[in-house]
Amino acid sequence: PVLVLDLGAQYALLIARRIRELGVYCEVVPGDLPAQALLERRPRALVLSGGPSSVYAPGAPGVDPELWSAGVPVLGICYGMQLMAQALGGEVRRGDRQEFGRSELELLGAPDGSSSGRLFDGVGRPGDRLVCWMSHGDVVVEPPPGFRSVARTAVSPVAAMEHEQRPLFGVQFHPEVAHTPFGTALLRHFLYDLAGVSGGWDPRDFGRRAVDALRQQLPEGRAVVALSGGVDSATAAALVHRALGDRLTAIFVDHGLMRQGEPDFVRRELGERLGMPLIAVDAGARFLQALRGVRDPERKRRIIGQEFIRVFEETAGALPDVRYLVQGTLYPDVVESGGGKTATIKSHHNVGGLPERMGLRLVEPLRFLFKDEVRALARELGLPDRIVDRHPFPGPGLAVRIVGEVTPEALETVRACDAIVVEEVERAGLAREVWQAFAVWTGSYSVGVKGDARLYGPVVAVRCVQSHDGMTADWVRLPYELLDRISHRITNEVPYVSRVVYDISPKPPATIEWE
Ligand code: XMP
Repeated sequence: PVLVLDLGAQYALLIARRIRELGVYCEVVPGDLPAQALLERRPRALVLSGGPSSVYAPGAPGVDPELWSAGVPVLGICYGMQLMAQALGGEVRRGDRQEFGRSELELLGAPDGSSSGRLFDGVGRPGDRLVCWMSHGDVVVEPPPGFRSVARTAVSPVAAMEHEQRPLFGVQFHPEVAHTPFGTALLRHFLYDLAGVSGGWDPRDFGRRAVDALRQQLPEGRAVVALSGGVDSATAAALVHRALGDRLTAIFVDHGLMRQGEPDFVRRELGERLGMPLIAVDAGARFLQALRGVRDPERKRRIIGQEFIRVFEETAGALPDVRYLVQGTLYPDVVESGGGKTATIKSHHNVGGLPERMGLRLVEPLRFLFKDEVRALARELGLPDRIVDRHPFPGPGLAVRIVGEVTPEALETVRACDAIVVEEVERAGLAREVWQAFAVWTGSYSVGVKGDARLYGPVVAVRCVQSHDGMTADWVRLPYELLDRISHRITNEVPYVSRVVYDISPKPPATIEWE
């Protein structure tokens, strides 16, 4: 594999994602891993990530110095390049100015001007000015002995450097971000031409290999998986089902807080169509009972979580010889909770300590995949588009879209409104362009007039947001005609609702969900 040495997790993950998009398998490992442990994995190339630290700060992340002479091609990015420069005898200093955002890179070329040097060979020509994206305060002012600067900017005299013979390269800018237009070309050149890696990584092959591995690792006994209707748990389940067949039982806890038609859909598409043994537990009444009189959002979440575990545990506990619990944990969660150390089994996404209590071994077949790779695999496994392209839906379901107490009336109303919002957004062909679209029971009431009668009814909000990762979001400028259709249908088709409002708050400061 190609190994990305993690010197600041969020940077490392993005690099890994780009490299995989180039068809090269790579993993993120902790930056401070001993050279021997790294080299045992026989990496074809190493990439040192950026990081928020300064190489001179006490306790700044570093790498094993033996790596520099191991003969493995290394590309240092941002902090990674500064680390390389400092370790090998160059000079890194606090810059006079910070360089943040768009910057113009000038390619210096070889001393005789004949070529752009090894790193930029085929990417640009000497004298070219290329747009790149920078984010740093420290600068390399002097490359180490044996290295030369191959690009500069107004702020950075060494914006890229390479060793004269050895396969050591560094760039101050971020080739992994979209704002560096030639970044992908540079990474491709480093990987394929300079490091000589062979491509061919495809998440669908991963599926075939994973099936073989699962058969070996889970030779006997039964496995259970909790289906949520989302793409991650469905894909994990489908993969394990392909490997173990009927030794897998899927459990779908219907907490009664699902969208309209969702429970039937899960039963039909995942149970019947894929032929997966599926137990659907209709626990709606139980959840409603537990939520009675509860208004505090965090308490609502906790109650739903606890109740979910109870129902799941009761159901799984009734099955014979269950030994494994399958979870759809993805790579970003693994890296964020354990720094990519494969020995660290994450805990915060475990179903509330359930594996320990029930003596189950946790199986996470997607733990090396990114979301887009999971989608590709899901398609390959024959999951329906509606699951593959599904919008995120919170675990506590409609309960976090009801401000205040979850009453049957609120639940029914918000579910009916939600179905209209989703249907109209889909019909307008916008489903793929938006991150989430839904309705909210705002908990406030207003005066209206329906027929000839005065009506004091609930105010329903419509929320439709665009986002890349759910961390930040903006409200979608839906066409007025579409908003009008949604409002018209809600007030006509849903009893008692006479007022519909559109939520125009970005995140931050608002969150996507109302609770
Ligand atoms: P917020 O409301 O925090 O939501 O802006 C960000 C994203 O996370 C989803 N979300 C949840 N997902 N369990 C989940 O599985 C939850 O408790 C939960 N709360 C929010 C939300 O739908 C959005 O995509």
